[in-house]
Amino acid sequence: MKLEKKFVQDERKAEYYGSLLSSREHARELRIFHLKGRLLKMWQDAFLRFSKEKCQFEDRAIVLSGLTGIGEEILSALLTMYLLYLVSIRTLSVGDFAFLVSIMWSLTGSILAILNIVTQELMGNYEYVKNYDEFVGSVNRDGPSGMECRSGSGRPEFRELVLHNVSYSYPNQEGKAVSSVSIRIKRGEVVSILGDNGSGKSTLSKIVCGILQDYDGDVLMNGENYRDIPHGTLSRFFGVAFQDFARYSLSVRENIGFGCIEEIDDGSLVGKAAEVGGLTEMVGGLPAGIDTVVGKEYDPDGEELSGGQWQRIALARAYMGEPEFLILDEPTASIDPLEEIRLLSHFRGIVRNRTALLVSHRIGFAKLADRILIMEKGEIVESGTHEELLSQRGRYYMMFNAQKGLYAEDGNNSE
Ligand SMILES: Nc1ncnc2c1ncn2[C@@H]1O[C@H](COP(=O)(O)OP(=O)(O)O)[C@@H](O)[C@H]1O
Ligand SMILES: [Mg+2]
Repeated sequence: MKLEKKFVQDERKAEYYGSLLSSREHARELRIFHLKGRLLKMWQDAFLRFSKEKCQFEDRAIVLSGLTGIGEEILSALLTMYLLYLVSIRTLSVGDFAFLVSIMWSLTGSILAILNIVTQELMGNYEYVKNYDEFVGSVNRDGPSGMECRSGSGRPEFRELVLHNVSYSYPNQEGKAVSSVSIRIKRGEVVSILGDNGSGKSTLSKIVCGILQDYDGDVLMNGENYRDIPHGTLSRFFGVAFQDFARYSLSVRENIGFGCIEEIDDGSLVGKAAEVGGLTEMVGGLPAGIDTVVGKEYDPDGEELSGGQWQRIALARAYMGEPEFLILDEPTASIDPLEEIRLLSHFRGIVRNRTALLVSHRIGFAKLADRILIMEKGEIVESGTHEELLSQRGRYYMMFNAQKGLYAEDGNNSE
């Protein structure tokens, strides 16, 4: 049955959104990209759609036994509205909301007997089901859609970023992940941080984009201390591709659009980001183009993507909404050097006329930068251009010689 299949899909979708909202794994991206409001709205839409469809579906075969199901949905929906209301007035956190709703879903089965009495009463009033549209409509209008979203469009202008003596230790960590780092990045500069695994590159980039806050020292954006800038304002400067970026089992459009949620409905911006990320060809080959669901977490028919394709999606997500300052953390980590070389031209396109921080343990990628910083045990130990660092014959020189075999055929990769 088409209808049945549709609401099963919506139900699964709602469950998937719920899991995204409540999982630790996705918490960071939810925060940096301000996705909570949007995901909550998507969850709510899918939930209401399947509830409504289920209602109508069951309504058609209305027999006494069916009444319980309908009543159950209505009651769940009512309760959900109430919880959503609590979230919108910030009495309830989004995580608690997702948790309570999942409990409610698992409980509805066992409270069925009690509900039966109530719902028979309710459903006796057939008009109630007809009014469901109005009911759903009002929720859609009054829902918490704007709650955590960045409002308005446009990015603030970036001029200068300064880190002054910044150190960071993780709880339970001996020593420092980042140790007395001072750097200045000016508008239009492309800076790369190169270093072995564990040298503190990702930690530093998380401090720069504002998601790690309890550091020592100072970070200034356009002269203003991070501690005085609301997180919502700060994050608007940055487009970020995390090393362990999230792979949403949603459409390509959503996967990209999540990079700048308030612009997700602007098809041309999503298309531009897809193009810059080098996804045009891949998207062209997908059955529903940019609206094809990727990954199989909630949709068994979702398209599987390769590591390199996901990587391009992460790049496009970072570029979405044309941020002033890009932070790309190991965007070639999960692909081989050949694919990396193919991707390098897209990086060039991405960082053109922009300020960027490129984090990598690979020379090929680091070479794209105007300035290379070598990180070791949390500290910046060398700094300069590719040529300057080579002539210093220090850490960079050693890394370059150790890795240059990887890029042996790469004649077009140096500027
Ligand atoms: N969440 C964490 N909790 C504790 N220690 C961490 C955590 N993340 C990273 N570290 C430690 O901090 C150091 C720097 O890590 P990281 O910034 O991820 O380095 P890189 O990105 O250069 O590989 C490493 O010693 C790592 O083990
Ligand atoms: Mg890292």
